[in-house]
Amino acid sequence: MKSVILDVDTGTDDAMALMLAVAHPALDVRAVTCVGGNVSLEQVVANTLGILELMGAGHIPVAAGLAEPLIEPAQDASYVHGSNGVADIELPTPTRSVEDVHAVELLRRTLAESTEPITIIALAPLGNIALLLRLYPEVHAKIERIVFMGGAVGAGNATASAEFNIWHDPEAAEMVLRSGVPTTMYGLEAFYQVTIDAETIGELASSTQPVQAVLGGLLSHLASISVDESRIVGAGWAAIGDAGTVCAVIDPDGLVLRTAPVEVSLAPGPTRGQTVVDLRTGLGAGGAETHEQESHIKVVLDVDGPRYARLFLEAIDAVSSA
Ligand code: BDR
Ligand code: CA
Repeated sequence: MKSVILDVDTGTDDAMALMLAVAHPALDVRAVTCVGGNVSLEQVVANTLGILELMGAGHIPVAAGLAEPLIEPAQDASYVHGSNGVADIELPTPTRSVEDVHAVELLRRTLAESTEPITIIALAPLGNIALLLRLYPEVHAKIERIVFMGGAVGAGNATASAEFNIWHDPEAAEMVLRSGVPTTMYGLEAFYQVTIDAETIGELASSTQPVQAVLGGLLSHLASISVDESRIVGAGWAAIGDAGTVCAVIDPDGLVLRTAPVEVSLAPGPTRGQTVVDLRTGLGAGGAETHEQESHIKVVLDVDGPRYARLFLEAIDAVSSA
């Protein structure tokens, strides 16, 4: 079993990521930390507790973290996720509250107390993780890897050049990328490739089983929005988004990876929040060799979408019929 902590801004696809992480027998979810992003921090916390309650995972500690990015004001994405962030679905009322410590403190404590290294799966703007790494360098060695959903090799979604999680808090993302902790970037190229077809979504949505019905509702919402005609919306299909990042941790053989330096554009203007991935293999400016650059960062270039979709559905099916 791999020990993981999830950092989330729940969000339709963060909700699916949480469902998979707690349902899959290969993962031991040690804590969940929340950050403002897709919706307000307060709503993220409510959604996170609601999803864990639905999944019978009310024992996993949850803490609230940063409400706002490090520098700029928060800008939510309820235009994608629905006004409550989870497609306006009503989740079970949680029977507990969050821990009375900040998310950064729960991260520190969970890492410090662990006897084995933990993988951090970060599915949101990276403020909590940036502060953890800056405040508590002594826990770096306890982090096996940070696997984050964010960035893109090519086009963005929040802007032409920037993906939402990085665009929302570019300084935090750059701090994480510069930390030297082994990191995997699961960017938009992968994000849109793990999809569920219309027929399966219909079956889930009409299920009488609560977990399946909620999943069907989330996917139906994603299938119906017209954010990006070419990618999210097809003939009734939907991408599982952040949940694919959890698949990547469970089953890394489904990934095509490339070790490469990545920097975040912090400049104001049209490139702010862009992840600049250095994939050069020839000679750069001044004749500098570029093909053997050192990096602690692996970038996901491609993903086996059908393999991850199967993994996701099988895990949900197993928990629903248990
Ligand atoms: C990312 O932003 C949010 O909308 C999703 O939850 C995902 O983490 C995609 O750009
Ligand atoms: Ca997210």
